Amino acid sequence: MNVYDSERMVDVLSPLGYAPTDDPAAADMMILNTCHIREKASEKVYSELGRLKQFKEKKAEEGDKVIMAVAGCVAQAEGDEMMKRQPAVDMVFGPQAYHHLPELIAKAERQEGRILDTDFPVEDKFDHLPATRLTAGPTAFLSIQEGCDKFCAFCVVPYTRGAEFSRPVAQIEDEARRLIASGVREITLLGQNVNAYHGEAPGAGLTVWTLGRLIRHLADIDGLDRLRYTTSHPRDMDAELISAHADVPQLMPYLHLPIQSGADRVLQAMNRQHTADMYRALIDRIRDARPDIAMSSDFIVGFPGESDADFEATMQLVRDVTYAQAFSFKYSARPGTPAAEAEDQIPEEVKTARLAALQALLVTQQKQFNHNLIDQVIPVLFEKPGRYEGQVIGRSPYLQAVHVKNDADLIGKMAYVKVTAAQQNSLAGELCDYPVS
Ligand code: 5AD
Ligand code: SF4
Repeated sequence: MNVYDSERMVDVLSPLGYAPTDDPAAADMMILNTCHIREKASEKVYSELGRLKQFKEKKAEEGDKVIMAVAGCVAQAEGDEMMKRQPAVDMVFGPQAYHHLPELIAKAERQEGRILDTDFPVEDKFDHLPATRLTAGPTAFLSIQEGCDKFCAFCVVPYTRGAEFSRPVAQIEDEARRLIASGVREITLLGQNVNAYHGEAPGAGLTVWTLGRLIRHLADIDGLDRLRYTTSHPRDMDAELISAHADVPQLMPYLHLPIQSGADRVLQAMNRQHTADMYRALIDRIRDARPDIAMSSDFIVGFPGESDADFEATMQLVRDVTYAQAFSFKYSARPGTPAAEAEDQIPEEVKTARLAALQALLVTQQKQFNHNLIDQVIPVLFEKPGRYEGQVIGRSPYLQAVHVKNDADLIGKMAYVKVTAAQQNSLAGELCDYPVS
């Protein structure tokens, strides 16, 4: 979602004459779009600010002003402290305020002091973002839902991103059509709780549509070849969404469905409001609908009170489900969340050992999933040139990167590839002799 928000900041800033640069020495404005989810991500902001400050100082010596801004969830949660800790920061704004950028910049240019904008505004930022989407490439993100009302005991999202909000269907459809008109063929629908989507239906009436309904509707747009969505909560995986995996060919066979832990005791302490067996049963239903689906998840090891037996239950769940890929983290105590106050925190070395064991198992499964695709023919949407001359990289339906050697200009095209080799994170293959579309 931060990638999406950063892209939208570019859309907001481009009418003011700003364009993105990879070179910090060339920048007139630097925006760090930050993540607060774990302590490590949060701390990185301060070290990065220290590094980028040098470019600002250098420009100041030459008589030029650089605006240094911090956006995103660290800005939202620690704005005041950040201003104190790093005097070079001119501007701090939260994830609900980036459509205010033109006003904030005007204030900064008028030298009205340092600026902090971390209110949750009543108006909807999506109503104020430009219709234009300056995207490059055949794939794009599209935020359809933000925020979270679930209050998992470890998580800052309900505090930093606020309450659940769904964009109206018509607004989403309009953005999707604009993306497609600019050459996008694959859209990933985004939300912190994307499958809790409940957006105002198009046309008159007071009905709301769920994610399953929205997916069916978007899939009918000409030129949209692939749809994905992330991130989902097991409690919101309803029948309509599951059946979309069976019936909608544009919906790719990949699902990121975090469970966090395989132990019921821990799930309860985390306030996830489901058991491990409920999740197993859900996976069975999803696989009945789409047998080849690639499953992905998030796991937290070392949540307060997690015993060896609880951790073993997580390992067993992973063995039972078998994942195509997954993300796993050591529990990180976040200020203001209930779990941070728990007394039975797990020692760091125990977390380290559990994470290593879990990741070893997940890597084995990932390699196995990729290996199983060898000799299969799969459709690949090509996105960018590879590192080597003549190499192009695309994505499989299951979200793996696929490398192909081909001189033809395949970027933006869909082609069938016979998989010849599999690594942990990618596949390699040869172009089949079928038409490219
Ligand atoms: N500590 C560790 N991991 C966390 N996540 C969220 N909060 C924390 C935390 N306090 C992980 C969860 C979530 C993913 C986005 O980040 O696994 O699904
Ligand atoms: Fe955080 Fe997701 Fe739980 Fe919401 S559902 S509190 S975003 S982990």
